Amino acid sequence: MTQDTNVPDTTHPDSTNSTPKFTSEEFATFLKKKGFIYPSSAIYGGLAGLYDYGHLGTKVKHNFQNLWRKYFLSLNQNFYEIETSNIAAEGVFKASGHLENFTDPVAISEDGHFERADHLLEKELGQRFEGLTNQEMMDLIKKHNIKCPKTGTNIVEVKHVNMMFPVSLGVGKSHTAYLRPETAQSPFINFKTQFEIQRKKLPMGLAIIGRAYRNEISPRNLTLRQREFTQAELQIFFNPEKIQQHENWDDIEYYELNTVLVEDRKTNKITKRTAKDLLALGLPKFYVYHLAIIQKFYLEVLKINPEKFRLYQLNDKEKAFYNRFHFDLETDLTAHGWTEVGGLHYRTDHDLKGHQNISKEKMEVMDESTQSKCLPHVLELSFGVDRNVFTILDHAYQNEKDRGNIVMQLKQNITPFTAAVFPLVKNKEPIVNKAKEVLKILKDANISSFYDKASSIGKRYARADEIGIKWGITIDFDSLDDNCITIRNRDTTEQERIKITELLSFLKQ
Ligand code: GAP
Repeated sequence: MTQDTNVPDTTHPDSTNSTPKFTSEEFATFLKKKGFIYPSSAIYGGLAGLYDYGHLGTKVKHNFQNLWRKYFLSLNQNFYEIETSNIAAEGVFKASGHLENFTDPVAISEDGHFERADHLLEKELGQRFEGLTNQEMMDLIKKHNIKCPKTGTNIVEVKHVNMMFPVSLGVGKSHTAYLRPETAQSPFINFKTQFEIQRKKLPMGLAIIGRAYRNEISPRNLTLRQREFTQAELQIFFNPEKIQQHENWDDIEYYELNTVLVEDRKTNKITKRTAKDLLALGLPKFYVYHLAIIQKFYLEVLKINPEKFRLYQLNDKEKAFYNRFHFDLETDLTAHGWTEVGGLHYRTDHDLKGHQNISKEKMEVMDESTQSKCLPHVLELSFGVDRNVFTILDHAYQNEKDRGNIVMQLKQNITPFTAAVFPLVKNKEPIVNKAKEVLKILKDANISSFYDKASSIGKRYARADEIGIKWGITIDFDSLDDNCITIRNRDTTEQERIKITELLSFLKQ
């Protein structure tokens, strides 16, 4: 179903990081040591493709989810968030096509080891292989004498296997249901109910931030390819007659998008194209508008370096079978190169039509603006939360050799803590009391803050840098007389002395 093969094991040839600044092992060790992300079930040896987020990682993930929620749900008053079951009936996946098509190709070795076939080819031959038949993949494996990377033995077969997790519901006379492989099907099966309850208007959006489950053949690269992960997806139901319209089009008509179209594949270089240019290439207005809105989220809200974000158009072989138009959202990762972190999918009426056929529930609705009945089409804005959090952590990670420590340059809207409060000495009661006063001012203003009184001030700065705290606030002996504090900027290490009464306005700026 998904042609999500774009997570290479090595740096992608067209990455901006020709010599990565750090290895993926170094990064994983750091994330584990600081408690951002680490293997799940670790005391039992871990389970491949399953990860836990510690306190800091959870805070970063929640901050991302809240930014996503605020930005995408406020695009239209008729967009809503719902929360639904992670397990769904077999019929759902019959209708969606997952039972038949949610498969990935595996290369099976002589001694029975399974590897994801297209990834193996990609790794060995250094280019993308998507949409090939089993036979075509087997022929390439033979031609290039590719062996099983685990055991070094011959590959004997390539076949497709289904990636869903079946679950047995009930005891005794049980029946089979499935863990959802994407959050998307839940809004589709809730569409009719929500349409009736809400404003009975199109376009209507249903968003879910929730878990998805895929029995990945070769889970790897930390949270980039897991068996259980979080997606943030917005399904926009609209009247297909209006695909060439968007009421806010004028706002983005001349906005430049970082695109790599199929025609740019030779160099894979990012080409800036305005939204208007993309219309001229045959993409519909409703689609291009949302491409622009998504890019704005990355560049203006997450403040991703524009050189490390691109919209990558998939060709007919690569795109998921339900999509008429499909761009991947990609970020450039230090040790992995360009990586798919989301997608903009024009799913047409594929899903609603499928559910209408299998469930016999009518999915047509009255569009009051045209006074006609229609079966809505769906535009899906799909984001892998874990891959986006990975990007944010990857881009923030700086090994500051002259400081002798890692500095996580996390943006203020995403960092686990905005400020850290340090009493210069830990056993002088007036200083400790003053520091606690400052901490209370911050907490009362809802500024996420951290209190640290252990070891030297230099060590405390370093600890704060490593977990991405933007401002270090020190209370010293002079603070008792002048009610001032020293505030240190994590990124520049510059220090300023300001009045405690000015602290909140300083942080706001
Ligand atoms: N509803 C459409 C859909 O699920 P997808 O391309 O299969 O499309 C969407 O998945 C996003 O979910 C991907 O772009 C990726 O960020 C994330 N994702 C997919 N499989 C993943 C996995 N095994 N581990 C972590 N994230 C994954």
